[in-house]
Amino acid sequence: MNFEQFIEKIEGVRLQTDLLHCSVNQTPQQHQQLLMQAVEQLSVSLEELHVAEEELLQQNEQLVEYQQEIEKEHQRYQQLFDFAPDGYIVTDIHGKILEANQAALQLFAIDKVRLIGKILIVFVPQEARREFRQKLSQLCQQGEFKDWEICLQNHQKILFDCQISTTTINDKGNCIGIRWLLRDISAHKQAEAKIRCVELQNCQLQEAAQLKSQIVTVLSHELRTPLNAILGFSDIVLRLNKNQFTSQSVKMVETIIRNGKQLLKLINNMLDFAKLEEGKFSLSLQYFNIKELIKLVADDLRFFANQKNINLDVNINIQNVKVINDPIRIQQLLINLISNAIKFTETGSVLIELQELNDDKIIIIVKDTGIGISEVDFKYIFQAFQQVNQTKSRCYQGTGLGLAIVKDLLNLMGGTITVESQLGEGSTFRVELPREVKSLKNENFSPSG
Ligand SMILES: Nc1ncnc2c1ncn2[C@@H]1O[C@H](COP(=O)(O)OP(=O)(O)O)[C@@H](O)[C@H]1O
Ligand SMILES: [Mg+2]
Repeated sequence: MNFEQFIEKIEGVRLQTDLLHCSVNQTPQQHQQLLMQAVEQLSVSLEELHVAEEELLQQNEQLVEYQQEIEKEHQRYQQLFDFAPDGYIVTDIHGKILEANQAALQLFAIDKVRLIGKILIVFVPQEARREFRQKLSQLCQQGEFKDWEICLQNHQKILFDCQISTTTINDKGNCIGIRWLLRDISAHKQAEAKIRCVELQNCQLQEAAQLKSQIVTVLSHELRTPLNAILGFSDIVLRLNKNQFTSQSVKMVETIIRNGKQLLKLINNMLDFAKLEEGKFSLSLQYFNIKELIKLVADDLRFFANQKNINLDVNINIQNVKVINDPIRIQQLLINLISNAIKFTETGSVLIELQELNDDKIIIIVKDTGIGISEVDFKYIFQAFQQVNQTKSRCYQGTGLGLAIVKDLLNLMGGTITVESQLGEGSTFRVELPREVKSLKNENFSPSG
């Protein structure tokens, strides 16, 4: 029952009462009869009124409940508004601030009492105000703006980058206000600027690295030519004059040759490394017998192991000995690993193992009982020019390029290298290689069967 129905009911009761009043002037019989009728109707109406009253009471209770719920919702939204991480403000169509949440107060570094009533444009730096005014005038027609980036200033005139999104508040088709979402993107902008700076530095570093590689390449080439001549001619001089030379002169020429060879090895390593780093290195792929190659390298190096009274053993445990790879580069890799094992071992042995991991992969293990490497140094030993455990390594020859070359070569071949070691207990280098290295575009591949 609504309010009008309730009024109607009351009107009905009033009519009945009026009737009762009139009936007082009637004849006694009629009066009695009418009085009875009226009383009956009156009690019916009263009953109805009572029911109506109860209904109204119920509706009233419901209304109070609804009102409480609406109040709770309102509070919830107010809290969401107040504590949202981004700044929210509500303005009229001229940009006069009517409401603002906590984040907006923080953004503008001002308290609520002073912010409400201000026009938003006071937080726009002078030079951007023209653009701001234009946007504001377009806002009511366009309905909304998204992710508009502009520089704002807080109450203390400190600038910050802000991303603004807006929606209009409409009443009967007319724009009567604007809701603004303000996101401080200064940190984001700074991070972007830093990334750009790092990218630029990276570019410069890459250029510098490339230049360095080029210098190394040119220098190495230039050094190699005269060095080869020195070595060649020293060898000839020694062979032709061995009988005429005193033993001291022979020793001197032998020293020239030995040191020259050492220098040549270093230059070759530097040249290889520069090429690998520049990505200009290519493999010459072919079928070959890996078992034979390992044995050959071991036989070549056994002399140096024997000089130090170290055993050099080879353990081949593989069915299919054919692989596709660059034998010269595999030989280089083996020489690096095995000569390290011999160099860094004083007593005990060096063991080279060849195994099959599966149909597609083979494993080469070089194990020694030498000085070992501490776990913290594992990540350094594969970097160029890194010789760990310096105090001890100083007494061993080398430049720290060997393992860096091995790692780059394996990268090119699609293989991996890992190391297990304990100081004083020896080291185990484990190389995993694809049985068939896939040919890259600038590699020569000549299957020789
Ligand atoms: N088998 C090994 N035992 C102990 N240390 C090793 C072994 N192999 C490599 N290292 C460590 O890793 C460093 C880098 O090796 P490498 O790149 O071959 O350089 P180099 O042999 O010229 O010193 C070595 O100086 C040494 O400290
Ligand atoms: Mg080495």
